[in-house]
Amino acid sequence: MEFKDYQQYLSPALAKATDLIVKKGQGCYVEDVNGVEYLDFVQGIAVNAFGHCHPKIVAAIKEQVETLITASFNLVNYPATLKLAKELAEFTPGELNTFFFSNGGAEANDGAVKLARNYTGRPGIIAMRGSFHGRTIGACSITGSNSKYRKNIEPLVPSVYFTPYPNCFRCPYNTSCDECSLECLRELQWTFDYLIYPENVAAVIMEPVMGEGGYVVPPQKYVDGLNKMLKEHGILLIFDEIQSGFGRTGKMFASEHFGIVPDIMTMGKAIAGGLPMSCIASTKEIMDSWMAGMHGTTFGGHPVCAAAALAVLGLMKEENILDNVNGQGAYLKERLTEMKEKYPIIGDVRGLGLMMAAEFVNPEDNSPSADYLNMVKDYCLSKNMLTLSCGVYGNGFRFATPLNVAREELDKGLAIFEEAVKTAWGK
Ligand SMILES: Cc1ncc(COP(=O)(O)O)c(C=O)c1O
Repeated sequence: MEFKDYQQYLSPALAKATDLIVKKGQGCYVEDVNGVEYLDFVQGIAVNAFGHCHPKIVAAIKEQVETLITASFNLVNYPATLKLAKELAEFTPGELNTFFFSNGGAEANDGAVKLARNYTGRPGIIAMRGSFHGRTIGACSITGSNSKYRKNIEPLVPSVYFTPYPNCFRCPYNTSCDECSLECLRELQWTFDYLIYPENVAAVIMEPVMGEGGYVVPPQKYVDGLNKMLKEHGILLIFDEIQSGFGRTGKMFASEHFGIVPDIMTMGKAIAGGLPMSCIASTKEIMDSWMAGMHGTTFGGHPVCAAAALAVLGLMKEENILDNVNGQGAYLKERLTEMKEKYPIIGDVRGLGLMMAAEFVNPEDNSPSADYLNMVKDYCLSKNMLTLSCGVYGNGFRFATPLNVAREELDKGLAIFEEAVKTAWGK
C-alpha cells in the first residue's frame, strides 16, 4: 500500500510531513504498513500523553464502545461525561470548575471567544502575534502564528487586535532580558490608547506557553503585568492550554507556573488519550451567562472520549506523571543545552517540562534557518524517528514525546537528533 495511490482523493490542504502509512502504535513507537518501526517523538502532535494505545485507555474505550456509543449529550447525560466533569474540576486551577465539552481545539477557542463576548457584553478580542489557536474562521481570526493560515479567507471575525507575544529570543524590540522594560506590554497599552478603548475589550487570549509558534515561555513579569492590566479594565484572560495543558509543561496546566488563574481556559489534544475532545473551562458565574442553546455541538461530551479522558486522569494520578515530566524534561533540556554549546546552528533551547524546542539558526547572524532544521528532520526520518517543526520560519524542532517517556527512549531519540545536528553542521 502506498500513499501516492490514494493521495488524489485527499485535499492537499493538510501539510503532510511524511508519506508514511501507519498501521499500529504502542508506547513510543509506531509501525508502518511495511512493518518498519518508528520512534515517535510527535505523538499525534502532543496528544498521546501516555503513548500509543496505553492498555488502560484502550480498555476504557472498549468498555464504553460496547455499552453505548452516543445518544447526544444535548439530549441525555452519560455517566462517563458526568464523572469526567466532576473529576476534571479537581485538576483545574482556581474556580475553573464548570465545563463545556467539544471536539477539537479550534472549536473550543471559538466557544471561548463567544463566551467572553457574551459575559462581558463587549466586542473586542486581543490576540497575540505568534500564537496559534486553530483553523476555523473564528480561530484563524485570533491566530497570528503565520499569515498563510489567514490567506484568502478575509474578511475574518471583526474587532480582533494583535499584540506581540513576549518572545525574548526574538525580541521585536531588540532588547536583552536584563534591559527589558516590557516594551511588549507597552504595545498593549498603545493598542488601548490608539485602537480600541479598553472597556470595549472582552478578552485577551494567550497561550501560556506558545506551541506551534515556537515553544516560547513568556517571562513571569510579562504575565503578571498583563494580568494586572486586564483586571484594571475588567477584561477577561483566556488561556489556551490546548497544547500546554495536561501535564506537558511539568504542571497540570502551564498557568500554574505563573501563579495566575485565567477567567477562561481551553483544553484539547491530550485530554482524551488520543480521542478527539476539547473543553472550555470557566467559573460558574461566567459559564452561567450562557442561556441554554446559545452554544452547542452534536458530538461534544461524547461518552467514548469521556471514558478515555477519565482513564487519562486516573493514569495522571497513578503514575505520578508530573514527576516523570519534570525529571525527563530537565534531562532533555540539559542534553539539548550541551548540544547548543557544541553546534552553533542551535541558537536557542527553551521550554518547560516535556514541551521543549531547539531553534535552528544561521550562526553568522542568528537568523532563522529552516534549511538546517529540514536537514535535521530528514536525517531523523531516515533513521526512523518522527519529528515535528514549529515557528513562523519553520526552524524550531519540537520534542513532543509521551509524558511517560522512559530515559532509554529519550536517549535513543537524542542520539539520533545529535547525529542529525552534527551531520547538518558538517555540511
Ligand atoms: C495551542 C493550540 N490551540 C489550538 C489548537 C487547535 O486545535 P485543533 O487542531 O484540535 O483544532 C492547537 C493545535 O495545534 C494548539 O496547539
